[in-house]
Order: sequence, then C-alpha cells, then structure tokens
Amino acid sequence: MKFKLLFYIILNFLIKNIKSDINLNNGYGFGLVEENSKCLSFIGDINNQPLCFNKLIDNKLIYSTYNKTNQIQALKIVEQSFKQLTFLQGKCLNLNYAQFGICEIYFPSCVETTYEISLPKRLCKSVCDKMVNDCPFLSSSLNCSDSNKFPPIGTLYNLTKYGYTDNNGFYKVECSDPTNFYLNSPNDQFIEICPSPLLLRNHSNSEYKEDKGYTYLSPTNCVFSCPQPFYKKNKWDQMFKMSKVLSTISFVCSIYNILTFGILSKIKSKYNLCITFFSISTVLMSLMDIVTYGIGYQEMLCPEPGRNAIQSDAACGVTGAFFHIGITTGVLWWTTMSICLYSEVKRFQMISFRYIILFNSIVSLIILIIPLSGQAFMSGTGSLGCWIRKTWYVNGSFWIPCGIALFIGAICIVLVIYEIFKISKNLSKDNKTLMFQIRPFLCVLLVGGSFLYLFIFNFNNERNLDKYKASIPNYIQCLLSSSVNGQDCLTDGPGFGAYFSFYFFTRLFGITSFCIYGTSKIARDIWFESAYNHPFFHSYIVKCLSLLGISKHFSSNSSGSNPKNFNRNGSNFNMKQNKQKSTIDQNDSISVFVSTKQDIEQEIENNVVTKENDSPNESIENTTSSKDSNASF
Ligand SMILES: *[C@@H]1O[C@H](CO)[C@@H](O)[C@H](O)[C@H]1NC(C)=O
Ligand SMILES: *[C@@H]1O[C@H](CO)[C@@H](O)[C@H](O)[C@H]1NC(C)=O
Ligand SMILES: *[C@@H]1O[C@H](CO)[C@@H](O)[C@H](O)[C@H]1NC(C)=O
Ligand SMILES: *[C@@H]1O[C@H](CO)[C@@H](O)[C@H](O)[C@H]1NC(C)=O
Repeated sequence: MKFKLLFYIILNFLIKNIKSDINLNNGYGFGLVEENSKCLSFIGDINNQPLCFNKLIDNKLIYSTYNKTNQIQALKIVEQSFKQLTFLQGKCLNLNYAQFGICEIYFPSCVETTYEISLPKRLCKSVCDKMVNDCPFLSSSLNCSDSNKFPPIGTLYNLTKYGYTDNNGFYKVECSDPTNFYLNSPNDQFIEICPSPLLLRNHSNSEYKEDKGYTYLSPTNCVFSCPQPFYKKNKWDQMFKMSKVLSTISFVCSIYNILTFGILSKIKSKYNLCITFFSISTVLMSLMDIVTYGIGYQEMLCPEPGRNAIQSDAACGVTGAFFHIGITTGVLWWTTMSICLYSEVKRFQMISFRYIILFNSIVSLIILIIPLSGQAFMSGTGSLGCWIRKTWYVNGSFWIPCGIALFIGAICIVLVIYEIFKISKNLSKDNKTLMFQIRPFLCVLLVGGSFLYLFIFNFNNERNLDKYKASIPNYIQCLLSSSVNGQDCLTDGPGFGAYFSFYFFTRLFGITSFCIYGTSKIARDIWFESAYNHPFFHSYIVKCLSLLGISKHFSSNSSGSNPKNFNRNGSNFNMKQNKQKSTIDQNDSISVFVSTKQDIEQEIENNVVTKENDSPNESIENTTSSKDSNASF
C-alpha cells in the first residue's frame, strides 16, 4: 500500500512538472511506462460469472502483466462494481454501456510499439462523460476531468529512453472508445450480479415469477434468501427449537384433553364437547408444526434456494390449511364456551347444541375455503410455517371474523366473572372466595390475552411494513460493503422478542387448555372413573383404596355407580346427585370452567347452617335447579 501511494505521488509530481514544461498537452494526458506489462490476452471470466469477456473491444490484446494475480484482482473489482450497478437499475440509463466502460478501464486495450514496449489506451473522456451523464451516481468514482485517466484525444508516453525522438520523445497513444463496439454487440446484455446471500433469478421467466414464492428486490432480478434475513441464524434456530418443543407439548396436552373429555368421559355435556372441540383444534395447530419439523423447517419453508413455499407445494398447502382450520375453530369454540358459561350464569336458554356444532363447522369451513381458493397459503417471508400471507385474505378470513368472535367471548367471560364476583361478595366479606376466581381469570388472561397479543402484533406489523421496506436500501448497502458474505447484514423486521412471543402464543393454546381443564378435578375424576370401571385396573384400585382406608367411604358412594365424587366430603352432593343426575353433570362441567361455582356452592351449603335466610344461597339454588332445562345433550 505504502509503495503504491509513493508511486502515485511521484507520478503526480512528474506529470505536474511535465505539464508546466510543455504546454502542448491539449487533449492529451500523460502516462507512465511500465516495462513489466505487455499486450496479453484476457484470462477470461472467473467462477462462471460473466464479466468482461464479451465487453472488451479486443480481449486478445489487453495491457497486463504476466502475473495473473493482477487480472484476478481487477476482475474482483469489476465484479464489485457490477454488483453496485445492479442496484442502480431504475435510477440510471444505459448501465450496460457503463459496464463496457468499466471493463475498458480495468482491462485497457493495448498498443505494441516498435520499441519492445507495450502501452495502454486510456478510456476517452467522451465515454466517461456519457457514463456519468447517464448515471450521475458514477461521478463519485469517475473523475472525467482527469485527463491522465480520461484523455479527450490520447495519452503521451515519454519514450526518449527507448530511442523515440519525434514529438520531443513523447509517443502518442489514442484513447479507446468502446461506443461502436457496444453498438455492434446488441446481444450482450447488462450483467446483473447479486451480492451474497441474495440470488439471481430471471423474473421475466415464468418459472421464477413472484407468485411462485420469490421475493424480488425490484427493479433488480435479485431475490431474498430463504428464510429472510430478519434475524441471524442462531436466532432462527432458537425459534425453531421453541416451536418444536412447544408444539410437541401442546400436541400431547391436547390429545390428553380429547381423551379425557371426548372419549373417556361418559357425560357428553356442552362443556366437555367444547373442550374436546377446542382441543381438536389445538391438535390441528400443533400438527402443522410437527409435520413441519418432520419434513425439516428449511426443506419445508424453502423448497428451493431463494424460494418460499407456496400453496401448490403440497406440504405447505396442507399444513397451512391444518393450522388455519385449527386456529379458527379454536377461536370459535373458545367463544362458544364463554357463551355457554354466561348462559348458565344468567339462566337463559341457548339454542340446541347441534346447531352450534353445525354453525361452527360451516363457518370454519367457509373461512378455510376462501383463502384456499385464492392461493393465499404460503410460507411467507420470515415465518415458521405456512399460513395465509395475502393481507386481505388474512384480514377477511381470520382477523376480522375471529376478532368479532373473540370480542363476544371476552364480553361473556367478563360478565361471568362479574356475576361470580357479585355472588361471592354477597356471600362473605373475606378474600378467601376471591382466591377461587383464579381459574376463570387465568382462562381469560391466557387464552383471550394470547389472542389479543396476536391481534396487536399483526396490526402493528402491518403498520410498520413501510418502515421495514424503507430499511432495505441499508441492507443492500451493507451487503455491498460487507466482506463477510453478507451474513451479518439484516433487514429491519419485527423485533425478535415480539416475533418470538407471537409464535410462542400461537403454540401455547393446547398447553393453556390443558392447564385449565386437563388438570381440573373433573379430569382426574374422569380418569379415575374409567380406570375404576376397567376390568384390569379395577381390582388394583379397590386394593389401593382399601390400603388407604377410604374404601368404606367410597363403597357407600359407589351404590350411585358414580365414583367420581368419592373424594368429595360434602354429603349434600350425593343427595343431589341421586335426585338429579343430569343437574350434577352440568354442574360438574361448569366447575371445569369456573371452579368457584362448586366451591361457592359448597361454602353456601356450609353457611346455610348458620345463615338460613341468605339470599345468594337462594339464587344459587335457582341456578342449579334451572340447569336441567338447558341440558340438550
Ligand atoms: C504475482 O504477484 C503476487 C503479488 O502481486 C505475488 O504474490 C505472486 O507470487 C506473483 N506470482 C508469480 C507467479 O510471480
Ligand atoms: C478531478 O481531476 C482534476 C484534474 O486532475 C482535479 O483538479 C479535480 O480536483 C478532481 N476532482 C475530484 C472531485 O477529484
Ligand atoms: C523523458 O525521459 C528522459 C529519459 O528518461 C528524460 O531525460 C527526459 O527529461 C524526459 N522528458 C521530459 C519532458 O520529462
Ligand atoms: C430472462 O427470461 C426471458 C424470457 O424467458 C429471456 O428472454 C431473457 O433473456 C432472460 N434474461 C436473462 C438475463 O437470462
């Protein structure tokens, strides 16, 4: 480097002196003779990347040293400048002409003299001026008024040393003008080069159209890598890992819920059905992840380099449809559950459950068919799975209908909590009853809150899309200036934390519903009951119970053939149960939802002894007795 700098200083010094000495340099620049350089042929483009081979006036005679490193070095510089020209498309005219000029600068045409000296032709000033006129951005790297680099007519070389005597020993070499050559090579197109990790695809080729899953950085033919460079690779790995773990757990939890409430439970109450359907929907959602990581995230989301999966990639279409129907039915059944709960509390009659099932199924099918027919399922840019990615399809077939459903559900839940709060407040003044509210509160907070978060994230994301787009030039700048393969360059996207939470919440529903319903006493009882009734386990359980010394209590109960309540102390329950089985079934199911009711009821029953005339007691009794009218299943 130091040597080079010194060299230029000397060169400039010499040229200045020459200029002051002779004043006939009109239209000429001055050049230094380098004895090592000769007229040689161009070494050819490297790495199958077309560069200057077809853009040189005479690629058999270029001014170069025998040592090929120089040419290789020059090719690297040319490649880098072609990359920059690629992103000047749309801002400049005739970049192809600029490429001819650049090749001519780095691989100058050569003139052989009779003095065993070869001399380079410099690019004509007119060419330089035209390049800069067509593309003003080039003026920062091309100084066309420097007549040594871009002489208007030619270059003078002092060959006195070699015996040349004419013109004070200054040998004239005319400048090179590739314009005619350029005009005569109509087949040689502008060469686009995409900086890694971007890839070059031809967007006028039907195979590489945007609707095939390519994201072009228009107006270039460069496509984004897949997955998109929102985050570094280790962050993506974190996300994949989270998705794997959560969806597996969610899948298992949901299967457990389906087994418990859908298959083992003898009682097909509304709540059991709601929980079963909700769990089926979470199974479908987690199935999408499981299939995705079965196939492999990269293979599934990016079937070809630079291409995101689209609906016509079978795996993407199927998992996308699974996820979509899962999440919409999930929302619908969550809403149904809250409406059911509210109807129980307010004692109004709901329409037959059969119609609700029909309604929910039809709505979720319609909501599935619309985006399917619009080919709207794709893996999208920067995502963990296939889902609807066309803005209006996703708004119309998810956010708007599900937003309405969630709003209704949330209102019902809030009203229910309010009712319970009223009851428990009337009941006793201490905080103990408030503790019983935890389950419904958790239910609202976790499921409703998760959905709310998804909403906020989605619309915030939509709002910021322009901002993310605006950051792309910086990303390209980074790629063009980066020496490390562009791995460290990132585009602006949603923050990693926000994105992580988005995926976290969508994959959490199965686990949430397990925690709320699957761990309830009712679920335990269902398992116990079916185990008790199972011929294989029956004898063991009886033995076990007798060992624990509760067999007596239990057997007194078992006459009612419902061992579910064996561990409940309240004798009132058994009385009521014998009186009206269906009432208790309904009642049990409610407690899955709002465990407080049972507890409150029990507390009331305990209180009845002391406070005979308590009004809440009455209201609860009314609630209970009205239940059988609702039992449509
Ligand atoms: C070519 O030049 C480079 C440095 O410019 C040097 O490292 C290399 O050894 C040279 N190669 C030959 C064959 O002389
Ligand atoms: C361009 O070159 C001329 C002549 O060498 C010089 O005077 C001028 O300062 C240069 N301009 C730039 C922007 O470098
Ligand atoms: C040309 O080169 C010769 C020998 O290298 C030198 O003596 C002479 O002064 C040079 N001419 C000019 C005008 O600098
Ligand atoms: C892109 O594809 C079109 C149509 O297939 C073709 O005419 C054109 O030459 C291609 N461009 C490049 C740079 O390959």
